[in-house]
Amino acid sequence: MDIKADDINRRRVLLGTLLGGLGAVLAAAGVYPVWRFLAPPATDEALDQVTLFRDQVPLGGAHFFNFRGRPAVIIQMRPGDFTAFSAVCTHLGCVVQWQAAEQRFLCPCHAGLFSADGAVIGGPPPRPLERLAVSLRDDRILVG
Ligand code: FES
Repeated sequence: MDIKADDINRRRVLLGTLLGGLGAVLAAAGVYPVWRFLAPPATDEALDQVTLFRDQVPLGGAHFFNFRGRPAVIIQMRPGDFTAFSAVCTHLGCVVQWQAAEQRFLCPCHAGLFSADGAVIGGPPPRPLERLAVSLRDDRILVG
């Protein structure tokens, strides 16, 4: 009779341990993707300067890149004339897109429009795109 009670207790402990372990695994599986989404990217965001090459930026076109862990964009409106911006919309933070045919930036979230010099030309953005410092060195473009 005592042996049966011991077996039942051991089974309860074993079942409790298994369920506790399963619960921990499921909780970790649910928390990890959220943590990865919220955590800053582990890339070169600490770099204060990004080096690009002139041939990465087409004339009349745009090249998107990461600057300090955030989206940025550089455009070349005239040969050798490069201008870089944060690609983060000043309204609610969506990433703008370059519309080459219209030579402007469109924010897809609320149809904010920015000119090629970053000024607001339509929609709800309250401020121009943040301009980033650009300097040229031979075939390289230094941003930041
Ligand atoms: S976030 Fe860009 S227009 Fe709203």
